[in-house]
Amino acid sequence: MTEATAFDDLAVAPVPEPTCLEMTGVSKQFGGHQALEDVSISLSPGRVLALCGANGAGKSTLVRILAGAESADAGTIRVHGSEVAISAPQDATRLGLSFIHQELNLVPKFTALQNMAMGADRGGRAGVLDLRALRRKAQQVQDRIGYRVPLDARVEDLAVSDRWMVSLGRSLMRDATIVAMDEPTASFTKEEAERLYGIIDELTADGVGILYISHRLEEVLQVADDVTVLRNGRLVGSFGASELDVASLTHHIVGRDVEGVTHRVTAVDPTQGPELLTVEGLTREPRVRDVSLTLHRGEILGVAGLVGAGRTELARLLIGADPVGSGSMTLDGKPYHPRSPYDAIKAGVALVPEERRSQGLILRNSVSANLGMASLRDPAGKVGTYSPRRAVRIAREAVSRFGIKTSSVHEAVGELSGGNQQKIVVGKYVLAGPQLLILDEPTVGVDVGARSEIYDIIRGLAAGGTSILMISSDFEELAICDRVLVMREGTVTASVPASRATKDHLTALCFGTDSASHEQDPS
Ligand SMILES: Nc1ncnc2c1ncn2[C@@H]1O[C@H](COP(=O)(O)OP(=O)(O)OP(=O)(O)O)[C@@H](O)[C@H]1O
Ligand SMILES: [Mg+2]
Repeated sequence: MTEATAFDDLAVAPVPEPTCLEMTGVSKQFGGHQALEDVSISLSPGRVLALCGANGAGKSTLVRILAGAESADAGTIRVHGSEVAISAPQDATRLGLSFIHQELNLVPKFTALQNMAMGADRGGRAGVLDLRALRRKAQQVQDRIGYRVPLDARVEDLAVSDRWMVSLGRSLMRDATIVAMDEPTASFTKEEAERLYGIIDELTADGVGILYISHRLEEVLQVADDVTVLRNGRLVGSFGASELDVASLTHHIVGRDVEGVTHRVTAVDPTQGPELLTVEGLTREPRVRDVSLTLHRGEILGVAGLVGAGRTELARLLIGADPVGSGSMTLDGKPYHPRSPYDAIKAGVALVPEERRSQGLILRNSVSANLGMASLRDPAGKVGTYSPRRAVRIAREAVSRFGIKTSSVHEAVGELSGGNQQKIVVGKYVLAGPQLLILDEPTVGVDVGARSEIYDIIRGLAAGGTSILMISSDFEELAICDRVLVMREGTVTASVPASRATKDHLTALCFGTDSASHEQDPS
């Protein structure tokens, strides 16, 4: 923000920076719900504009309007200075706009190349598909971003980050001058995210304008030049990234201050109390090897590690989703051998999976049906009796308890914003009332405000005696744990008490660069 100075009359009138994209006065209603009201954004070539806001603030809706996937009720769009009408996805493509949506929209059975070629110039003359030209172009695109995905591999066989690169590759095949990325790094590791920042640098150096949506605020401040914040569908303001820090940006997003993650203070140390789960020598080659651990009642046990360290695979063994190779487990003093997640649920063990959209939700079903899906016990303690009225009442309570943004518990889950869908999956398992709740990356895609609500829920459950196993790649949030295990190459290599579970220490242990990694026997 500039202030008037005595030199003002000496200054030459500033040349307005050319914009590649301007959206002005955009409004959109769904049913009676105002998803966007009079929102304006402006993006210049070679710059990164971050769009920030809580779950349901309207970010994806704005991007979908730009993509021609949704029509605005009011507002204008200018691309490279000229007003344009975008009423279908082809219009957006023709204008050099390109999108990587929150849901990637790839065809799983098609190869990477086939997916990248979709919508691209067909390569040959007179619209004939020229596969060799397309392959050459795809290779050029991969050279440009310095990242290679096997072009003939089917997308369904690729890792999540590779799929994302296919989606980016598809954008670049179309020679886009504006690329919008909706939560690109939600399922990325740190290294993958770093690689993406490098790619963004390359693109902006070529003059591409980037619209960037993310809930990871440190990342936003690192990547973006400008930040526009939305709250409840309205514009809060536009800022230079250098004017902001995480605390002030959080304040703009949530409308109040949010405390950072702090250590839990418990009257009794749960790690000294009774044990709930003991695991000995658990193995399933090649991803899980000889894992032993103890989880106490009411304890929050974190599991840190790099992607591929075997954490998700361990969680799957704990709920019987995969068969155990060797080793044994005891739950509540009794042998525990779940043969399926259903067995685990009956024993009171539930897993909130990492791939929540695909594994945790039925999108066409209502909020209340989804929230009720995993509930174990009715008041009589019977499994499997279902009363719709009771389900609706419980769902209403859950919606307010978890701060889920929905017009009603009868709304289809598919209509909710991405982050609110996540909260429903977490809520569904919390409502099941397990004695052991395993959470795999519980806050990915969840906004700062809701994240601290989820921590409160976890702490509350633990205080009530539920044991929590929390897998997280966000080492800062592991501060809510009583103890953190570190996994490397399929096995537990360290157990760190809360007081020493700092981000730096955990990172070092995960990479094995800390000589202290065997300082304490994992227990
Ligand atoms: N097709 C739809 N039908 C009804 N309501 C919708 C539809 N799409 C979005 N909404 C509503 O519009 C609002 C804005 O949703 P949007 O997806 O744009 O949020 P977002 O900012 O992207 O959130 P998140 O960070 O959770 O992804 C939400 O209240 C959502 O429920
Ligand atoms: Mg969204």
